[in-house]
Amino acid sequence: MGVAEPTDWWRDAVIYQIYPRSFADSDGDGIGDLRGVAGHLGYLSELGIDALWFSPFYVSPQADAGYDVADYRDIDPLFGTLADFDALLANAHGRGLRVIVDLVPNHTSKEHAWFREAVAAEPGSAARERYLFRDGLGRHGELAPNNWTSVFGGSAWTQVDDGREAPQWYLHLFDPAQPDLNWRNPEVIAEFKDILRFWLDRGVDGFRIDVAHGLVKQAGLPDWHIKSAELEGGGNRGPMWDQDDVHDIYRGWNAVLAEYAGDRILVAEAWVAPAERLSRYVRSDEMQQAFNFDFMTVGWDPVGMKESIDRALTTNAAVGATTTWVLSNHDVVRHASRFGLKDATSWPRGIGAHEEQPDAALGLSRARAATLFVLALPGSAYIYEGEELGLPEHTTLPDDVRQDPSFARTGGAETGRDGARVPIPWVADAPAYGFSPTGATWLPQPPAFAALAADRQEGVEGSTLELYRAALRLRREHGLGRGALEWTGADAAHLSFANRGVRVLTNFGARPLPLPVGARILLASEPDAVVDGALAPDRTVWFAQ
Ligand code: GLC
Repeated sequence: MGVAEPTDWWRDAVIYQIYPRSFADSDGDGIGDLRGVAGHLGYLSELGIDALWFSPFYVSPQADAGYDVADYRDIDPLFGTLADFDALLANAHGRGLRVIVDLVPNHTSKEHAWFREAVAAEPGSAARERYLFRDGLGRHGELAPNNWTSVFGGSAWTQVDDGREAPQWYLHLFDPAQPDLNWRNPEVIAEFKDILRFWLDRGVDGFRIDVAHGLVKQAGLPDWHIKSAELEGGGNRGPMWDQDDVHDIYRGWNAVLAEYAGDRILVAEAWVAPAERLSRYVRSDEMQQAFNFDFMTVGWDPVGMKESIDRALTTNAAVGATTTWVLSNHDVVRHASRFGLKDATSWPRGIGAHEEQPDAALGLSRARAATLFVLALPGSAYIYEGEELGLPEHTTLPDDVRQDPSFARTGGAETGRDGARVPIPWVADAPAYGFSPTGATWLPQPPAFAALAADRQEGVEGSTLELYRAALRLRREHGLGRGALEWTGADAAHLSFANRGVRVLTNFGARPLPLPVGARILLASEPDAVVDGALAPDRTVWFAQ
């Protein structure tokens, strides 16, 4: 059953990301699952969000936490069954929550039936043509076909283990367990349209498209002389990213979604810059949204934030698209920790015990202020599970529990993303802080999670959870997501704007900032934010006049 429609719901939707393995574990194996999510749907609808996005829960050997899919049409037993998913979807829809699932089209798992077939087949066979197999260079084919490097470190090529004398190599922009598909092959195109229909038939409201800028590679796979590790943040350059032909794929998918009643969406995970290039993914016949990583990566910096906001709103308006606002997700250091670093614009690839430790209190104040700022902007906003509790990154994980392939593939040079993926604390006094009935957790939780557990924040005035709830309620009441931004002030110490009668002021400086006379406070990022008519540093306030 679908949800009653306001048209274009996604233009101002607040979408909550569930990282299934870390949200809630119902069966006690230490890994979150769909029934765990079902047990917390009440919490999610009370939060005041519009939709859920599920990171992958498909059948997978979990070489990259499920972003290595072995069967796109089934749920991994770790997470449950298709029946669990159907029940969850119906329950979510019944509460007016839409559901978006993750689609991982750039690569499959090496355990996918197609890749197994390809390994067993002849070079040049139809089975190998579904992937990017090439002969090696050198006298005996012992050298990789080109110099591309993997986003996770090391070469982007691995020689296949097929028992031949000079085995071919296959391309993997990520882990060797994630072979890249050949998107110039019509069979691949047809298969993914069919996968979209499989989930649309079940009733999903849309798809988050993983690595949307990577599917099509430049013909001939030419060498490239900048390391891909340097690229991801502004990763539009190079023959493996953002090729013009990729847009044909999304026009085809837009047409598939249009076969279905209701209002379904595609959202691009595309690390593409400049903003004009990214806006091509959200032209009216392609996707509905793209994650605004430009804004996410700017950090706590009024000048950079304003420039990024203006850039995004202008370039999206030029194609009639909405803009999204994202501060955290499963791939980046949580913003409550990033903003507590000495340089709050830095962009670490994970934080380890031997690295600078964030100032937790400062980081949390800024995170709350940034969130309040963002939730007043016109457009759609994403919330990453746990940020509504003010969770920090786990910055002291022991190396021997790390699972992110980027840690191992860079020999530890890159700390990796595990610290952002730690299981959620629900109940301060329960085993695993209520994440799992047995106390098992696939990654250890830091002691700081106890005080941040949901049960310690529910109904507690001034808690981060109640701040999110209040902000989402007011955002909806005032229709801020459908409004328009009008700057009322910007310099190195503050940003202020108006949207539909709500005035927003954020203090980035070191001194209190006086509010205009007669300001009526609607919501503040901290209980102590406004003292004697002035806004304290690292705080945001919404007010009316
Ligand atoms: C995307 C995902 C990330 C994954 C990568 C490879 O960037 O968000 O978690 O590792 O794609 O699938």
